[in-house]
Amino acid sequence: MATASIQIVLEQDSILSQQIVNERSMVATNDDSEPAVPVGASVGGKRNVFDMFSLDGRVAVITGGARGLGYSMAEGLCAAGLSGVAILDLQSDLGERACEQLYSEFGVSAKFYRLDVRDEIAVQDTMNSVVRDLGRIDILILSAGVADIVHAEEYSPEKFRRVIDINLNGSFLCAQAAGKLMIAAGRGGSIVFVGSMSGSIVNWPNPQCAYNSSKAAVIHLMKSLSAEWAKHRIRCNSISPGYMDTPLNTTFEGEYFHEWKSRTPMGRLGRPDELAGCALWLASDASSYCTGSDILIDGGYTVL
Ligand SMILES: NC(=O)c1ccc[n+]([C@@H]2O[C@H](COP(=O)([O-])OP(=O)(O)OC[C@H]3O[C@@H](n4cnc5c(N)ncnc54)[C@H](O)[C@@H]3O)[C@@H](O)[C@H]2O)c1
Repeated sequence: MATASIQIVLEQDSILSQQIVNERSMVATNDDSEPAVPVGASVGGKRNVFDMFSLDGRVAVITGGARGLGYSMAEGLCAAGLSGVAILDLQSDLGERACEQLYSEFGVSAKFYRLDVRDEIAVQDTMNSVVRDLGRIDILILSAGVADIVHAEEYSPEKFRRVIDINLNGSFLCAQAAGKLMIAAGRGGSIVFVGSMSGSIVNWPNPQCAYNSSKAAVIHLMKSLSAEWAKHRIRCNSISPGYMDTPLNTTFEGEYFHEWKSRTPMGRLGRPDELAGCALWLASDASSYCTGSDILIDGGYTVL
């Protein structure tokens, strides 16, 4: 009886292995130089879990990657074997330096492109240039963003629009431009939006209605694109940080820092490198069945 069950299990295993081989040969389509399992593909079967985090041969684009959270996520992805990384940012000096640092630390081809994410023509041109220079785009991390603290009754329309334009419209334009190229290449991809806990709660006592609205919209944009682009094997997810210790926040240091820490169960701000593990998970096949998810990393802020 025991021998018969083992036999059945072995037969099922062998059928499953054959299915996996078939699935892989189906997705490994037309170009022998492509990885056997493209980014974002359903992998099935068992692989070594650490191998699933590998980004060997893939190229990532990171907006706002010249500093702060974007730069930290770039470091995390480079450590996992990217063949190329493109940093897109407004700040040229910082961006060039970031690329030098990524190349010297990880040996990854790193290229800086000066870009304002609000400029739709420049956005598409830049994404095309990345494909020309680095060969492909598999991963897009959307970290370019701004915040300001202004009481609602005093917000000028220009200032309000600026936040929406960079955080929301800029994320859309970059996702659309890279998404078109991913669709045309037929290999799938992973897009990681950077939302914020402010997209699902209202930070108190900061007056920041434009920022909060922009991040709520970024999260819903991510969900909308995840549904539309699932058929192209492009996964879309977002990371929503709580208060992180980056230059974005240092301007508010004296006034708000104490309040922010005391309202965070872990009692501190996050370090920029505390998003890198999640970014790598979302960028890689380790999260191959995850799309449309918003992942809060906030030291517990939003549980209260
Ligand atoms: N730091 C936090 O506490 C925190 C919390 C939640 C969410 N976030 C989000 O994380 C992202 C990164 O924030 P950070 O803390 O690293 O900020 P940061 O200011 O250190 O970095 C943002 C980068 O975006 C670039 N940028 C700004 N406007 C741009 C534009 N129009 N075009 C291209 N690049 C532009 C800046 O030059 C900068 O290098 C933002 O979207 C922010 O809203 C930050």
